Amino acid sequence: MERMEKAFQSQNNSAHRAVLVTGCSSGIGRAIAIYLAENDFTVFAAVRKKEDAENLAKLQKPHLIPTYPLDLTNLNHLKGVLEFVKEALDNRAIKGLYAIINNAGGGSIAPIELLDLDKFHMELQTRILGPVALLQSFLPLIREARGRILWIATPALLPSPYLTDIHACDFAVNFIARTLKIELMAWNIPSILIRCGGIKTSSPDRIYRILNENIKKWPKENYELYAGALEKTRKEFEEFDKKRTDPTEVAKVVYKALIGKKPKRRYRVGYMSGLAAFLELFPQTMVDYILERRNK
Ligand SMILES: NC(=O)c1ccc[n+]([C@@H]2O[C@H](COP(=O)([O-])OP(=O)(O)OC[C@H]3O[C@@H](n4cnc5c(N)ncnc54)[C@H](OP(=O)(O)O)[C@@H]3O)[C@@H](O)[C@H]2O)c1
Repeated sequence: MERMEKAFQSQNNSAHRAVLVTGCSSGIGRAIAIYLAENDFTVFAAVRKKEDAENLAKLQKPHLIPTYPLDLTNLNHLKGVLEFVKEALDNRAIKGLYAIINNAGGGSIAPIELLDLDKFHMELQTRILGPVALLQSFLPLIREARGRILWIATPALLPSPYLTDIHACDFAVNFIARTLKIELMAWNIPSILIRCGGIKTSSPDRIYRILNENIKKWPKENYELYAGALEKTRKEFEEFDKKRTDPTEVAKVVYKALIGKKPKRRYRVGYMSGLAAFLELFPQTMVDYILERRNK
């Protein structure tokens, strides 16, 4: 089995396979971009800020191509990115794009009653509308390379309180990824979920910073309704944060999903991803009951 996988890898050496990763300025996206570029993939590492493109360029990795600007809330960026990718593929004599790795995302801690609708809208654009538009632009190149689509997401679909902008997107991403798998079967283009548990990135710090800013902005009487529950959530997260997994582990799983001849529909990686995925196997009513009890 291992020999077959090696033979397949050498036949399909990744050097002539190119992937596009979104959200490469930090965390999981950056780790994936660097790992794949070090392991012979040509990587279009998309970022939305010039300084992040410059930081990636400073790494001086021949297979890592900073790709800028790609802000998924601005669909006008897609045309430029597509032209840039096509030109770079031509210059390197690479046929098509082997994968899109949808990673970019943000999110916040907030009760639904106090969710900032503009930010929620941006998150929906970043995680759902933007990736769908990206897919629509790049599918011809993916078909050419007989490639695959990867989605970085949470490990399970659970109604976790105060994380609605993140998990509403995860529910939608899960639906899109699985539906796409069926719709693209005719071209043998797998759509694969990479379900991540707790991964050590700067995102928790960003989320706490936003929470602190929001607490100052929210009307005091509204915030006080949730103050105890939000404090409890923050404390639980701080414990959770101590055990998060290094993002390179996600990169290794992504690599596996890219090179596998028959990739799985979903991969799982990271702290507590097993328990979350196990919970998801229960009937919805039971999951709701467990989470209600836990948050009493
Ligand atoms: N960390 C975890 O435990 C965990 C677990 C499961 C799933 N995930 C998912 O993994 C993904 C990456 O998270 P992370 O922990 O690595 O966070 P991170 O370090 O904060 O990275 C998020 C990346 O997304 C980019 N981004 C945000 N909004 C964007 C937009 N509108 N257009 C383009 N890029 C945008 C950010 O760019 P800027 O620097 O320009 O903001 C950054 O590069 C997210 O989708 C997250 O939901 C994370």
